[in-house]
Amino acid sequence: MEKTVSAWMAGVRQGMSERVSGMPLAYVRTYGCQQNVADGEKMKGLLAEMGFGFGDSPEEADLILFNTCAVREHAEDRVFGNVGALKHLKRRKPGLIIAVCGCMTEQQAVAQRLQKTFPFVDLVFGPHVIHRLPELLHQVLSQQGQVMLLGHEEKTIREDIPIRRDGRSRAWVTAMYGCDNFCSYCIVPYVRGREKSRRPEDILNECRVLAQAGYREITLLGQNVNSYGKGLAEPVNFAELLRRLDELEGDFRLRFMTSHPKDASQELFDVMAASRHIPHHIHLPFQSGNDRVLKEMNRRYDREKYLSLIRYARSVMPDVTFTSDVIVGFPGETYEEFQETVSLIQEVEFVNLFTFIYSPRPGTKAAGMPDPVSHEEKTRWFAELLKAQEEIAARNCRNLVGSTQRVLVEDKDGKTGLLSGRTAGSLTVLFPGGDGLVGEFAQVEVTEARGWSLRGQLTEK
Ligand code: SAH
Ligand code: SF4
Ligand code: F3S
Repeated sequence: MEKTVSAWMAGVRQGMSERVSGMPLAYVRTYGCQQNVADGEKMKGLLAEMGFGFGDSPEEADLILFNTCAVREHAEDRVFGNVGALKHLKRRKPGLIIAVCGCMTEQQAVAQRLQKTFPFVDLVFGPHVIHRLPELLHQVLSQQGQVMLLGHEEKTIREDIPIRRDGRSRAWVTAMYGCDNFCSYCIVPYVRGREKSRRPEDILNECRVLAQAGYREITLLGQNVNSYGKGLAEPVNFAELLRRLDELEGDFRLRFMTSHPKDASQELFDVMAASRHIPHHIHLPFQSGNDRVLKEMNRRYDREKYLSLIRYARSVMPDVTFTSDVIVGFPGETYEEFQETVSLIQEVEFVNLFTFIYSPRPGTKAAGMPDPVSHEEKTRWFAELLKAQEEIAARNCRNLVGSTQRVLVEDKDGKTGLLSGRTAGSLTVLFPGGDGLVGEFAQVEVTEARGWSLRGQLTEK
């Protein structure tokens, strides 16, 4: 790390020791996607180097950091509500530092609102300048008023930011930043900037360390991992990156998200089929089953192209499972067009679906399109889609009863005391077992399907 960074870090340590007796505590709350979670882990890495410990509640914290998401209006409203609620806390505890970062801040209207309506927020910064957190905190500690740093997208990727990972068995590894696709409904390209791929050797080194440290699941991240490699000195596409990562030793699963159907290739599925570490599961968002809507969304594939990818994947991996994202009620979508989304999920039989009601995002193309269908009506369509998916998921679950699955145990449920684990195909199984299994693989016989969830028993097989 640069010398100046260590000077700023030392300054922050000093400044905090004057404000707080003992170790200063940070409360970092991340909203949104895994990319944001990964950013949060980097900010925690930097904070830890500056002497911060981490707390679970805003009340005990000396620094509160909200790492925000802008993808839907609802997500933004929650953040404004939660930031607003800190006003009283700040009054009681004037030394408290409040910071807001993440995707929301990169929208002008949000930045202005934070400035005008939330002047008690000390620091506002965007996702491009995470590495400058020491300098920014140093500024907060040494000057009056709100510090704000937005934009400043850099051409190079910073590889020297320490990471403080939340999990000990599952890790997030960024493969690429930003997005160039400009799907007409989506804010991400505006707030995250242009696509930038990390060098394959940097990704490989990070994954090697994780595998050696005993991590059981590594998930590569990017808004469109299939377009990985653009602009790299060495021409490496995503399939080739996976091939190289698959050679790493260790007992781990290698997952990735998100794949865009316009760039998903047969080569990708071939690599998955031949790999040791990649489970036969792919998250492949289709958004809509109707060609006109897909065109308006600027997704640049049609229903048939999507289905042909699914058919190819199944031909090389008969046990492959799919999950997806869907938007209901895109501007101008008719009920008949929506029905094609329902028929697509019935055709593909996703094991899990992430469904969203369209939310207009200021500045995107779709936000200016006529949107005659009421929210109430869209909510009805949404419920119809969920019902169809529940039936599919329940059928998928019933098909697994009697089979033995290798699951990665993720958690112990506080209420039921059951362990929960994920199969290679990304289905959740609940079963009795000891805490010691959390973070490890276990063989589980599926004994029962309860609706769309699975119950099982540990087995030696
Ligand atoms: N890059 C990924 C997804 C990023 S956002 C991809 O292309 O698939 C995650 C999901 O949020 C999207 O897949 C989409 O289904 C949903 N989404 C994005 N913008 C939205 C909006 N304005 N309204 C409702 N859902 C939206
Ligand atoms: Fe948004 Fe489309 Fe980029 Fe995904 S690919 S982040 S949906 S613009
Ligand atoms: Fe949200 Fe930003 Fe991710 S807008 S979905 S946190 S890239």
